[in-house]
Amino acid sequence: MIFDTHAHYNDSRFDSDRDELLSSMNAGGVGLIMNACSNLDEIPDIIAMCEKYPFMYGAVGIHPEDAAGAGSDYLYRLREYAKHPKIKAIGEIGLDYYWTTETKAEQQRILGEQVDLARELGLPVIIHDREAHKDCLDILRAHRADECGGVFHCYSGSAEMVREITDGLGMYIAFGGSLTFKNAKKPREAAMAVPSDKLLIETDCPYMTPVPYRGKRNSSLYLTEVVNMLAQLRGMAPEEIERITEENGRRLFKISA
Ligand code: NI
Repeated sequence: MIFDTHAHYNDSRFDSDRDELLSSMNAGGVGLIMNACSNLDEIPDIIAMCEKYPFMYGAVGIHPEDAAGAGSDYLYRLREYAKHPKIKAIGEIGLDYYWTTETKAEQQRILGEQVDLARELGLPVIIHDREAHKDCLDILRAHRADECGGVFHCYSGSAEMVREITDGLGMYIAFGGSLTFKNAKKPREAAMAVPSDKLLIETDCPYMTPVPYRGKRNSSLYLTEVVNMLAQLRGMAPEEIERITEENGRRLFKISA
């Protein structure tokens, strides 16, 4: 069974067929989905989906691109929303120096505050790190992210950095469609370096569609392409990749069978 540990099914690109698509997940081999969150406005829709679909869980958090609009009461509101039994993580949070460099200071401040919140609530963090590896690791260490745990989603760092995350911080690493891209030498090397008990898979759908579906809207049903690539890279059967990544995801997000 596949556990998609990072999706955005509240995205408007699913408005026309969301129910039909999500209803087809179990038949398509997808057994669990973690829906990530970018800002406070998205949370009511995410919670409604989690209540409708037994296999869907959610996260709450402010994405670095939304850092400037967080508002002074954002931590209070995240804390309230996080009381919902199907909210299992704080995320996605992090640093993005690729799209938004002018808000670096804001991004760093709300990342640290949200890691503190995750520790207070005993929830893991979902980390978005784009072109900001050093600052991201520094903040996670300073705010003791090893105490709440979490995952680096859509990992774009090096194979060398893997151990700093898995051993140093005890965190997990997730790979998605970008692993199947033609020029994906660096992520493939990183995917081979991740210990088996720290490996996760994700779509980041509707984005990051794997080969050979690039150009189409992504969905959890395409994750078999990522599973097959990981199986090939690590010399394991696809069923084994599905099994260990599901187990790892359940352990990280504290979702029992
Ligand atoms: Ni995402």
